[in-house]
Amino acid sequence: MPKVKIIETALRDAHQSLIATRMRTGDMVPILEEMDKVGYFSLEAWGGATFDSCIRFLNEDPWERLRTFKDHVSKTPLQMLLRGQNLVGYKHYADDFVKAFVEKSYENGVDVFRIFDALNDSRNMELSIKTAKEQGAYVQGTISYTISPVHTIEKYVDFAKELAAMECDAITIKDMAGLISPQVATDLVTALKDELDLPVNLHSHCTSGMTLMSYQAAVSAGVDMLDTAISPFSGGTAQPPTESVVAALESTPYDTGIDLKALSKIKDYFAGLNEKYNALFDPLASAVDTDVLIYQVPGGMLSNLVSQLKQQDAIDKYEDVLAEIPKVRKDLGYPPLVTPTSQIVGVQSVMNVLMGERYKNVTKEVKDYLKGYYGRAPAEINQDLYKEAVGDEEPITCRPADLLEPELDKARAKLEELNLLKKDEDVLTYAMYPTVAEKFLKGEAVAEGIPEPKVEYTASNIPNSYEVEVDGEVFNVKILPTGYMEMEPSSQQIKPSVEGALTSAMQGMIVKLKVKVGDKVNEGDTVAVLEAMKMENDVKTDKSGKITDIFIAEGDTVEKDDVLMVIE
Ligand code: CO
Repeated sequence: MPKVKIIETALRDAHQSLIATRMRTGDMVPILEEMDKVGYFSLEAWGGATFDSCIRFLNEDPWERLRTFKDHVSKTPLQMLLRGQNLVGYKHYADDFVKAFVEKSYENGVDVFRIFDALNDSRNMELSIKTAKEQGAYVQGTISYTISPVHTIEKYVDFAKELAAMECDAITIKDMAGLISPQVATDLVTALKDELDLPVNLHSHCTSGMTLMSYQAAVSAGVDMLDTAISPFSGGTAQPPTESVVAALESTPYDTGIDLKALSKIKDYFAGLNEKYNALFDPLASAVDTDVLIYQVPGGMLSNLVSQLKQQDAIDKYEDVLAEIPKVRKDLGYPPLVTPTSQIVGVQSVMNVLMGERYKNVTKEVKDYLKGYYGRAPAEINQDLYKEAVGDEEPITCRPADLLEPELDKARAKLEELNLLKKDEDVLTYAMYPTVAEKFLKGEAVAEGIPEPKVEYTASNIPNSYEVEVDGEVFNVKILPTGYMEMEPSSQQIKPSVEGALTSAMQGMIVKLKVKVGDKVNEGDTVAVLEAMKMENDVKTDKSGKITDIFIAEGDTVEKDDVLMVIE
């Protein structure tokens, strides 16, 4: 009798989608043993954005998190999401790194690897799949699902056959934007079951509101596994609620075998966490958004976009950016939008809107994408854009990672030189994100605080004193009973306007400084590289002259409009 197995995503995708991956290890540990008893196929608990978030925002060692999970979960396989040759980063890494990372992940406790590539280019997946299989892991070969004129059921099935030939144990349909309709779910699952002899798993998000209908369609078509999230972290841009799916299939031929009562303690526990993290739930990410059917932007990307636009002080441009995304995606040959292509397309769209002119500033990542360094684009890319951004240089046609030199020895040497090498895994953390990891390994990272839960204000508890920031100047504002406001500056940090000042167009981190005091520069020269929204942007001078002062160093964080240097 067919049974549907459940993959619980509360420990990874659900909080990645709803609260920007901010859940702490300490908050998950107390419920792990209870979750281990349920009878899930697996617990998705690691990979994706959790690695980055641990060292960037939480001052936690991701490897330590994995080992802690393993200490408390003995029966249920632990699952991770791996971006093929991108591992848990945003670019291709060298083969020696990919191999070592997969081996260490397995060694520290990952049992199930879900491996995907943003472009469905199997060349970017073959090494990680092969290495995971060699360790004895269970591998879900993954289709990144999207909608475009070139993405047909036939193409997806052909791709799944490539994955089967690489000895994957199952095929996952990764519908990261929640776009799959009941009809497509029926057609795709049916085709995969007909043409392949592998279990099929559907992973989706509730963003568009169709997902539970699509899950039912997939179940009727013979799907073997479904991804769900315990109800307090379900819905919106996360997965459908576990309890609802379990109840809906109970006593049918598709029974999940999970006892609804076993879920109630887990639900209560996560309801408490929902309250604790309440201020981090963005209303935009928690609700159904049917715009996704038009813009095809995945949930994680939506909440990212919101926080990036807020950071750049441009949240009023949200709708413009949403409308720009499909245009950029078409120019790039319809890549599915998932890390890293979602960031590449998303940030270029933000730039196109913020700069007031399309492709005035093309990120390094878009240039690399155009040149083929991320793999094959699904459809032809816009040749005008190619010429403008890349020039006469030919795109590459080989497997992108073939061009990369081994990188682990160098990373190890650097860590030893810095006296920061405590365990083998540190080399992998450092090679993944050198700038952020160095800070973390030095013990200089600071964990973000969890904002206070939002309070419902009524006439009786409304505060009457606020701090308001206007152009970097903080004012204390008191609401007086008569209804007028008194304002007094609490600090006198008025930014001086410097002649010849080169200011930052965006908030971000300086990753490269290319000039020193005394250098002569010409208008249009690149003087620094700014990492904004995880993408590298050239900072170009808007004037020619001699650099008389520099106010930034590599590793510095700058705000929009900060003076970077003076050119006379
Ligand atoms: Co997902």
